[in-house]
Formats: sequence, structure tokens, C-alpha cells
Amino acid sequence: MSGDGALEGLLHANVPPALLPGLVFGRQFMANIAIKITTIKREARQKRHERGLRVRHMREVEGKTAFVSGGASGIGRGMARAFADAGMNVMIGDIEDAPMQALVSELRQAGAQAECVRVDVCDRDAVMAAADATEARFGKVHVVCNNAGVLVDGRSEKVDMDNWNWVVDVNLWGVVYGFQAFIPKILSHGEGGHVVNTASMAGMVNFRGSGPYNATKFAVVALSETLMEEHRKDNLGVSVLCPGAVNTKIAESGRNRPGRYGGTDDSVNAPMAALLPDAIDPDIVGRQVLEAIRDDQSYIFTDPGLRRHIAERFRRIGLGFDWAENCAALK
Ligand SMILES: NC(=O)c1ccc[n+]([C@@H]2O[C@H](COP(=O)([O-])OP(=O)(O)OC[C@H]3O[C@@H](n4cnc5c(N)ncnc54)[C@H](O)[C@@H]3O)[C@@H](O)[C@H]2O)c1
Repeated sequence: MSGDGALEGLLHANVPPALLPGLVFGRQFMANIAIKITTIKREARQKRHERGLRVRHMREVEGKTAFVSGGASGIGRGMARAFADAGMNVMIGDIEDAPMQALVSELRQAGAQAECVRVDVCDRDAVMAAADATEARFGKVHVVCNNAGVLVDGRSEKVDMDNWNWVVDVNLWGVVYGFQAFIPKILSHGEGGHVVNTASMAGMVNFRGSGPYNATKFAVVALSETLMEEHRKDNLGVSVLCPGAVNTKIAESGRNRPGRYGGTDDSVNAPMAALLPDAIDPDIVGRQVLEAIRDDQSYIFTDPGLRRHIAERFRRIGLGFDWAENCAALK
């Protein structure tokens, strides 16, 4: 008896001889299926591996062009400074003229190629025109940072419709128009590129008194994750920026509220303002974004200590699944 035969004998010691051929056939059949599954899994892994190794060209950013919406202040200005410092051409798009012009002068004095275009990101045609202007000025565009954003506070049911519409139009539609305008241009030249959408930690966990803001930032995370999937095979990286508190003028967002949403509001968002003195410097966030583009990092968190809030949210979501497992209606 061969070694294999001895093994078969041991394995089937208690099986009646008449059933043995069927059993051996069944085992062979199952073994073939297992081999097939293993092969399919190996091929899928190989494909994923190849996708992971696909050449991304954004490690080298010098001479490439970035557009930054909301680039005149805070985090956007930090990005513009970091990009210019790395030798990139920078186009700043903002609704606020004076600080935008001041930044362009600053960047040019430092030797950078910088330009600006006045744009209200709620206006789709204006965002399209800003993309055209960027291409016309620098030839090609490689990076788009959909960063302009505004904050209003108040309980969700009490925020008036002007403010709801304003926050949704800037924070959500502004991002949508931005990637609609720029992604086709980035893909057109074949040199690769990157999309950075600014969400917030408020796109990961909900903050009391910020319903419209939370809703738009969750939407920006959802859209960014969708873009990551849709462009997995393209030479286009996608990142979603989820900052914690950053020391900017976000608490004074009303300074830029257009007339159709109720006009300028000089009030300061007190809960947000209270966080700012201890908050991170926006220029650090700008450098972090540049690093994330080079590393092709999908999620950009400015405060690793906030991970526990996300873990807590998932713990609570998990309780929902625990409940569903015992839910009478599903029995
Ligand atoms: N500061 C924070 O703590 C913090 C935290 C998380 C996320 N964020 C997000 O970061 C982004 C940048 O905000 P910031 O903190 O630098 O605030 P900021 O107020 O300093 O800068 C926002 C910029 O957006 C511009 N802007 C506003 N409305 C615009 C419009 N309709 N069209 C074009 N530009 C417009 C403003 O003029 C300003 O230059 C926002 O999306 C914000 O939600 C900020």
C-alpha cells in the first residue's frame, strides 16, 4: 500500500467499502473547488498589488500646478504657501479679494509663480471659469484643493434656511463644482494629479450645534471616498482632509456671506472661537497636505488624539447591529 493509500485507509477507517468511491470523488471535487478559490483569490490579490504599485507621479511636485479654493486665509493659505515653497505654481481662488491679492504678492516675492482668481464656489460657472483660467495661466493643472468652507452654529431645527442654504452651497456644492471642473483637466494631460477635499473631524463625528456643517462635511467624506473608488485605476490620488481645530478665521465665516443668503454677518462663533487659541497653526496643516499628496495618503487627520471619538462612534453603531441580531421583527 502506498503512503497515500495508507492515509486514505486511516481517514476512511469507519466508512463502509461501498461508499468509499463516492466519498473519494466528493473529497476530490471539494479539493478542486478549494484550489480554484485559492487561484481566484491569488489573482485578485495580484491585481490589487499591481494597482498599489501603479506609478503615481505626484511624488515630484516641482513645476506642477495647484488650484486652492478658499486659499486667501487659514488652511487654504497654508496649502498655497506649502505648495509655492515646494516649487509649485499656485492659483488661489477666493471670494475675498484683499487677502488673496496680499498672498499672491507674498508668494511672488518669495520667488513663486502665483496667480489668483476671484470666485464664489457656490457659482458653478465661476468655478468652471476658474479652472479655465488656471489652465490658461499655467498650461496644465495637477492638483485641486476644494477647501473653501463656512460654519454657522445653532440647533439643527432652528438654523434659518438662508444659513442652511449658504453652508450647503459653499461646503457641499462648492466641492462638487470643484472636482467637476478640475478632474477632467487633470486627467487630460496624463501626468497624474491629486484631489484634496477639505472636510473636517465634523465629517467623522457629529458636533452638537453644527447640524448643517456636520451634514456637509459627512457628505464631503462620502464623495471623497467615492472618488477614491471611481479613480482607483487612474493616475489620480484623492485625499480628504479632516482637521481638528485649526487657528483660522473660521469663527468669522459670516464676513463672507453673500447678500442672497442674508449678507455679511460680523458675529463671531463663540464655541469655535474658544477653541482657536490652542488650535494648530494652518501653515502646519498646509505642509501636512503637501506631504499627503506626495505619499498618496487618503485620510489626512491633523490631530491623531481624536481617533478615540471615531472609535466611540463605531462602538455605538456596533450596538445597533447587536440589537438587530436580536430584533423581533427580523426573526
Ligand atoms: N479652522 C478649523 O478649525 C477647521 C476645522 C475643520 C475643517 N475646517 C475647514 O477648513 C476649510 C478652510 O477653513 P479655514 O478654517 O481656513 O477658515 P477661513 O475662514 O480662515 O478660510 C476660509 C476661506 O474660504 C473663503 N470662502 C468662504 N466662502 C467662499 C466662497 N463662497 N467662495 C470662495 N471662497 C470662499 C474665505 O474667504 C476664506 O479665505 C473649510 O472648509 C473649513 O470648514 C476648518
